[in-house]
Amino acid sequence: MTAAQRYDAIVLGAGAAGLMCAAVAGQRGLRVLLLDHAARVAEKIRISGGGRCNFTNRLLDARAPQQHYVGTNPRFARSALARYTPQDFIVLVERHGIAWHEKHKGQLFCDGSAQAIIDLLLAECARGRVEHLQPCQIRKVSFDAAHGSYLLDTERGPAEAPSLVVATGGLSIPKIGATDLGHRLARQFGLPVTALRPGLVPLTFDAQQWASYAQLAGVSLPVRIACGEKKQRMAFDEDLLFTHRGLSGPAVLQISSYWHAGQALHIDLAPGVDLAQELLQAKAQSKKHIANLLAQWLPARLADAWCAQEPAWQRPVNEASDKALLQLAAQLADWRITPSGTEGWRKAEVTLGGVDVQALQQQDMQARGQPGLYFIGEVVDVTGWLGGYNFQWAWASALACAQAL
Ligand code: FDA
Repeated sequence: MTAAQRYDAIVLGAGAAGLMCAAVAGQRGLRVLLLDHAARVAEKIRISGGGRCNFTNRLLDARAPQQHYVGTNPRFARSALARYTPQDFIVLVERHGIAWHEKHKGQLFCDGSAQAIIDLLLAECARGRVEHLQPCQIRKVSFDAAHGSYLLDTERGPAEAPSLVVATGGLSIPKIGATDLGHRLARQFGLPVTALRPGLVPLTFDAQQWASYAQLAGVSLPVRIACGEKKQRMAFDEDLLFTHRGLSGPAVLQISSYWHAGQALHIDLAPGVDLAQELLQAKAQSKKHIANLLAQWLPARLADAWCAQEPAWQRPVNEASDKALLQLAAQLADWRITPSGTEGWRKAEVTLGGVDVQALQQQDMQARGQPGLYFIGEVVDVTGWLGGYNFQWAWASALACAQAL
């Protein structure tokens, strides 16, 4: 058997977190091996942000991560997020001459392709003399307690190191390389993994329930969307998109991370408009058909489809009863509809749940009771909102770990 190559640290997964961690550790002078089973590096960065990578969010407040992160205890992320901020990543982006711009709600994107962020990370790894093997299947991981060393059996031969960083991400989009290796390794070493489910994902409905809305596929509009019990109801003001199978768009992706099976969504289809007042006023002054009137505030296709549901709404507004108009306004302001499920891992942007944060040290992401074993990025039970928060968690958790190796 060939003797194992020895390193100071081995990083599993050459995605956002793994590349960042390997680069920083290498630049600190450590001998680092970075392994990934996929043929191409950082596939999720490549497809992120519509190909322009929403690499961070300027509105992130590290003192209150629960504002933008979901998980059993999002406050766990505070230490790492405070030590590596969106501004720190902006400095790195600018050092590499990457032009960027801000979209709404603090979201920062590359002006050009997401490939620029991958190139940045690869250049930083090269500066740190990181040894990068890809594609490389990892067959087995074990721990030699006597020597405090992690032993890896890989298709490119054995390797060992006193530190093992697991950065294998979540379960979303298996066709570009997502696996449960990180969760399996956590369990192998006795760390609990919280329930895993798709997040930032389109929601679907029974075909029968959706039949009258399927014709609206492609219609998009700004809404206020909410779910959950009144006391802890989460709400987002974003765009909603009708699809053939259900609802998508930023509004639905955001709420999907808070939605649980069986819960109804509450959707205000004309936020900021007092439709009851508008319709009653119009009744006194206008002979327009109700659907045409509604088209002032809603896409015309949606207004038509909505009014088609009820004969009392298929007439000129001056001929409608107050009761029918008030009922219409109330339904549009609080459309209650219960999804039957989600589009699943195939379409989810992230994984909700992961390695239980109670089993990790928040300063450096090291497993409690298992020295030298670290979990960073999406494999951990810390999930960000849409808008650059997930990459910022990947960068920050990677830094916290790399500085401790
Ligand atoms: P990541 O998934 O990046 O990397 C994990 C690596 O581990 C992969 O390279 C994989 O091949 C490797 N791996 C997995 N199993 C392995 C195994 N068994 N053996 C070896 N290697 C293995 N976030 C954001 O902030 N802004 C955005 O714009 C977007 N956009 C976006 C779009 C789409 C379509 C998706 C799916 C996701 C996003 N995200 C996002 C989320 C973001 O991509 C995600 O949270 C980070 O990439 C997580 O970084 P990690 O390094 O933890 O995992």
